[in-house]
Amino acid sequence: MKKIKFFSGQRIPMEMHRAKVVQKLTLVDIDTRKQNLEAAGYNQFLLKNDAIFLDMLTDSGMNVMSDKQLAAAMTGDDAYAGSRTFFELADKIKEIFDFDFFLPVHQGRACEHLLARVFVKPGDVIAMNYHFTTTRAHIMLCGGSVVELNLPDSLDNSSANPFKGNFDLDKLNALIAEVGPQKMPFVRIEAGTNLIGGQPLSLENIVAVAKICRQHGILTVLDASLLQDNLYFMKVREAACKDMSIREITRAVADQIDVIYFSARKLGFAKGGGICLRSAELYDQFKELVTLHEGFLTYGGISITELASMTQGLEETMDFDMISQGPQFIAYMVDELDKCGVPVVKPAGGLGCHLDARAFLSHVPQAEYQAGALAAAIYLASGVRPMERGTISEARNEDGSEHFADVELVRLAMPRRLFTRSQIDYAVDRIHWLYENRTLIGGLRFVKEPKVLRFFSGELAPTSDWSDRLVARFKVDFGDSL
Ligand code: F0G
Repeated sequence: MKKIKFFSGQRIPMEMHRAKVVQKLTLVDIDTRKQNLEAAGYNQFLLKNDAIFLDMLTDSGMNVMSDKQLAAAMTGDDAYAGSRTFFELADKIKEIFDFDFFLPVHQGRACEHLLARVFVKPGDVIAMNYHFTTTRAHIMLCGGSVVELNLPDSLDNSSANPFKGNFDLDKLNALIAEVGPQKMPFVRIEAGTNLIGGQPLSLENIVAVAKICRQHGILTVLDASLLQDNLYFMKVREAACKDMSIREITRAVADQIDVIYFSARKLGFAKGGGICLRSAELYDQFKELVTLHEGFLTYGGISITELASMTQGLEETMDFDMISQGPQFIAYMVDELDKCGVPVVKPAGGLGCHLDARAFLSHVPQAEYQAGALAAAIYLASGVRPMERGTISEARNEDGSEHFADVELVRLAMPRRLFTRSQIDYAVDRIHWLYENRTLIGGLRFVKEPKVLRFFSGELAPTSDWSDRLVARFKVDFGDSL
């Protein structure tokens, strides 16, 4: 692993690829941005993409494909059943993870649906390092509950712990003793823990979790959607992985696991998803559900072109240069914002740069959705679309009261191989300006609030005229600039 050094001593993240195809972007003026935001009910999910300059909502399905992936897509063997392209993908899974059985499905949450259907019975308890929205919803639909076993400092921004995604092993042992292994069909290990800011787990922690699970006859299930970034962090942060290749680290992780599933919208620079199994017996159980809910076994609801680009994308995931770009750009953005005093989640993780909205907007009550308000203000000031990852993303308690999130984060996702450094510098510049003017930003309230997954389609409004005041200040500081 060699690094490029700069004469100036600066730490500049480098793209180890070049652009071959581009798409024109448009930055509309702030009055138009305000109209767009109002029309979208202050919800980033309801903005039209034409209204957006830099789309940092998610990395899901937004990673840039390589020339080799596009070429592979063209050679896909189109067939409803028995496609050669499927068998090439299954061979790649065997080569990388050493799992004998592979079932393609249309995306990550389809894996979660089928896993919950096969494993979770009413009253079961599913332990995990941290929940993910769709994962928890599927487990609960089957009558199970989720217990998070994250470390005490996993949500603490002042902690420099390089592996905040790790399981608290004492909590795992205590939970098994309390509920009993028969009520714990599996433990879910989420690589690159999404909702705590893309924070990784260490190989050492995965080995320890798997050992405890084996002792009690509990299966280990790896959500590998964000494995790519996690592999990078194992290589650069974990002494035991320093001299291992990415392929060796991947195998060392997979060797500990009974079931791997992933969203290929994240892992493998493609679309779709898949479930990897070791046991023929389990494969038979899953097979029926895949044909019922997804598609035939050799395409699983994904187009053959996507299966072909997934195979090539998984191969590229084993290339350290290819997987470094995302985490290095995120670290750059986190460092630049940190230098301006903007509260960011540290150390930088994978997936994206995360702002601590509670600290950023300490004058706004949590009941007025600090992360939602900050996400809206960022769009207004810059045309950049972030994602709210706070209380709006939670469901209300059964009695209708608000369920406050542990952390109020605003995520600026970094789709892999997409943005240039100047685009990141632009986003940093505008967020810095917002931070200097943060007292102008106020809260939000729901105008239309759906009962299920309200963050996707709910509509909100500002609790005062703060967005007008923010626009006025923008015009004083930036004149007629975009
Ligand atoms: N697991 C993790 C860790 C995820 O981050 C996601 C999706 C899923 C499963 C579900 O996969 O979207 O293909 O159905 N995360 C996206 C995000 C939605 O924006 O963070 P999916």
